[in-house]
Amino acid sequence: MLRPEYPIETARLTLRPFAETDFDALHAYQKLPEVARYLYEGPREPAETAEALERRIARTSLEKAGDVLVLAVVLRETGELLGEVNLCWLSESNRQGEFGFVFNPAFHGNGYAGEAAVEMLRLGFDGLGLHRIIGRCEARNTASARLMARLGLRREAHFVQNEFVKGEWNDEVVFAMLATEWADARP
Ligand SMILES: CC(C)(COP(=O)(O)OP(=O)(O)OC[C@H]1O[C@@H](n2cnc3c(N)ncnc32)[C@H](O)[C@@H]1OP(=O)(O)O)[C@@H](O)C(=O)NCCC(=O)NCCS
Repeated sequence: MLRPEYPIETARLTLRPFAETDFDALHAYQKLPEVARYLYEGPREPAETAEALERRIARTSLEKAGDVLVLAVVLRETGELLGEVNLCWLSESNRQGEFGFVFNPAFHGNGYAGEAAVEMLRLGFDGLGLHRIIGRCEARNTASARLMARLGLRREAHFVQNEFVKGEWNDEVVFAMLATEWADARP
């Protein structure tokens, strides 16, 4: 079980649970086709973002395998909501997890996603005691793959046309990090 203390502060960022007041900033990127391009869902209509926000507000801890924790990432200096990071507890017996990240393109290319995603690895390994954390992306999602490689995850697999998403067959790339690798490389 993992019930982190919030907020989580990094050099430039504040990670905290989503709140009702985040709707505009959340929809600003959830509505964008370029953000949804390699995600399973979206781009979202306002009503869909509202539902997504309600789910996010409730997802602040990992009580059991299958739970997902989602945090809003805020630029401390300006208070702007940049995007979100998440951590899913995949398996208790195998101590496996998965992390993810979605950011507003207005803030891409500054290292913010990496700075926030590291905190998901830290929660997973140091907080929950996971043995292995994976990240998955569509094979054409080079920004996501670069980010995971930069964080020190190993590219473990490339599945060919294993998913049918938004009307087409997708390839999936899987990255992973072990707790021992985290201990060696922890930022
Ligand atoms: C995946 C995603 C979050 C990556 O965002 P990003 O801004 O490229 O990632 P980072 O915040 O780590 O920034 C890295 C870039 O900033 C640059 N950068 C600038 N200042 C930096 C700093 N202080 N520290 C680290 N990197 C810095 C890096 O050189 C790098 O540039 P590059 O990708 O051209 O090599 C973003 O593309 C996104 O939200 N995509 C849409 C949603 C999505 O597909 N999510 C993933 C689903 S699997």
